[in-house]
Amino acid sequence: MLDYLRKECRDSTGFVVPVPDRMIMQEQYELIDKLLETRELSKEEWIQVLENRNAASADYLFEKARRIREAVYGKDVYIRGLIEISSYCKNNCYYCGIRRDNRKAERYRLTPEDILRCTDEGWRLGFRTFVLQGGEDGYYTDDLLCDLLEKIKSRHPGCAVTLSLGERGEKSFRRLFEAGADRYLLRHETADSNHYAMLHPPEQRLETRKECLFALKRIGYQVGSGFMVGSPGQTTENLAEDLLFLKELNPQMVGIGPFIPHHDTPFGTCPAGSVELTVYLLGLIRLMLPHVLLPATTALGTLDPQGREKGILAGANVVMPNLSPVAVRKKYSLYDNKLCTGEEAAESLSALKERIHRIGYTVVIDRGDYR
Ligand code: 5AD
Repeated sequence: MLDYLRKECRDSTGFVVPVPDRMIMQEQYELIDKLLETRELSKEEWIQVLENRNAASADYLFEKARRIREAVYGKDVYIRGLIEISSYCKNNCYYCGIRRDNRKAERYRLTPEDILRCTDEGWRLGFRTFVLQGGEDGYYTDDLLCDLLEKIKSRHPGCAVTLSLGERGEKSFRRLFEAGADRYLLRHETADSNHYAMLHPPEQRLETRKECLFALKRIGYQVGSGFMVGSPGQTTENLAEDLLFLKELNPQMVGIGPFIPHHDTPFGTCPAGSVELTVYLLGLIRLMLPHVLLPATTALGTLDPQGREKGILAGANVVMPNLSPVAVRKKYSLYDNKLCTGEEAAESLSALKERIHRIGYTVVIDRGDYR
């Protein structure tokens, strides 16, 4: 074990005594400074910076994270209109409420016409990025999606379209890119293959997930990855691996949010992840990837009414209000109590703007591309 990972040391007479807090604090400041300067830490250093975190190191971290975020993006907060196009999914992720085996999940899928109506409404409200997210649903063929992408782009010239439709073949990713898709979100969920196997059935493989992510980058998408914080079985070492993987992938976007149990899944009685740890990770990711587009996620807002504000004050610069038709919103139930109304809803944008304004930031009408 590395010397500095010890939580205790010996005094001059050989007695074991706790490491003085001041020493731990000194190490925390040094690690945060190192991350700020070199944009990377070793696995052991990631573990240490996570395990010894405290309120004072969080303040120090968040102050640095805000300074970097403001140097790159100023005080702007980008909004994305999230359209949840389908609750059908062929996958069976143990954590997810719309997993294939959840017979109680209410299924729906939006037609291209439904989706176009959402984008029209979104454009009117000031959204310049639309995120089409859904379960892995064979209804959305390449032909259907290419036609839809062309229609969205011609109705709303200058908008950006992000897809978040799970794993597809490289050929499919390429066709969608050529039809106008700008960005793709595909969280890696966990970068440790053993942990991946605890969260997913055997037919889902981390390798495939990673291959998709690297293919998306090769094609030229702005790529987003990310993971859940506090998913069942997750260790600090796993989180260190997630951060090392993100460094390697170097994505333009990173989505992280706390795990929240869904009562009709195998993880229905597992405890939720921590808001405090999620926000700390947001700060660390901002230091590691200064230009990254980093949302304060819905899951963060679901667990804590101040979650989004805390995320932004830790270095996040994106929020993704729900632009799905109100009639289907409750059916896209990834986890219990998922927000879909109030400030989470696209139609309440003015309330969201007001809240962001109160913490010193500004929601802007902009595609919000990676800089
Ligand atoms: N808690 C938190 N996040 C979840 N997701 C799916 N299920 C849950 C859950 N129970 C996240 C996954 C997925 C994204 C669309 O939603 O990380 O990538």
